[in-house]
Amino acid sequence: MEYWDKRFSDGGKIWGDKPSKTAIYALKLFQEYYLHKILVPGAGYGRNTKIFTEANLEVVGIEFSETAINIAKSFNPKTQFFQGSVLDMPFDEEKYDGIYCSNVLHLFLKGDRISFLKKCYKQLRTKGFVFFVVFSDKERSFGKGKRIEENTYESKPWRPTHYFTEIDLKEHFKECLVIETGLMEDKENHGELGPHTHILRYIFAQIK
Ligand SMILES: C[S@@+](CC[C@H](N)C(=O)[O-])C[C@H]1O[C@@H](n2cnc3c(N)ncnc32)[C@H](O)[C@@H]1O
Repeated sequence: MEYWDKRFSDGGKIWGDKPSKTAIYALKLFQEYYLHKILVPGAGYGRNTKIFTEANLEVVGIEFSETAINIAKSFNPKTQFFQGSVLDMPFDEEKYDGIYCSNVLHLFLKGDRISFLKKCYKQLRTKGFVFFVVFSDKERSFGKGKRIEENTYESKPWRPTHYFTEIDLKEHFKECLVIETGLMEDKENHGELGPHTHILRYIFAQIK
């Protein structure tokens, strides 16, 4: 938590004002499937929730950085936030049509990834949908740093990153009917890294 809070205190809107390509694509799918109520675990300062609320979706974010939530309050006041860890969900009794989660699942070790996903499924209505975005095994940083678990490296001290192959991603979501998976390039420009491109993997699936 301290790591992320410091990043937002130092960098503000680290990834800028604009939504990632994955959120633009997820919105298209949410609209195609008539999804209205969306939960966003690890929502950061709301750069990806804003595009959803602007499209009149009802959006609830879970985020443990108070600084990020404070930024979101002025940047995207229409997203309602709960402050806390996604590993402690649920924070409400609501059932959601869909979940959008970007660049969070890969931050956990295997046990926590599985328990996080179980908690997500419990927040979905019957046959609800998930759209998850994660680091892929095609990332430039894959294999760098100390290896902690299979395909998981300590990219920074105390910060594991799991890199997903397609098979691994589908295995994580085996309780769902997979509608679509793919790779998506996402350009960023921040911190010491400067301009760089992530090669992200996404999955769009429906709970069975
Ligand atoms: C890489 S950032 C992605 C932020 C946002 N999803 C986006 O794509 O702009 C990871 C976010 O997840 C939050 N986060 C990480 N672990 C968390 C946890 N256990 N519970 C709640 N939020 C968490 C961090 O504070 C940070 O905002």
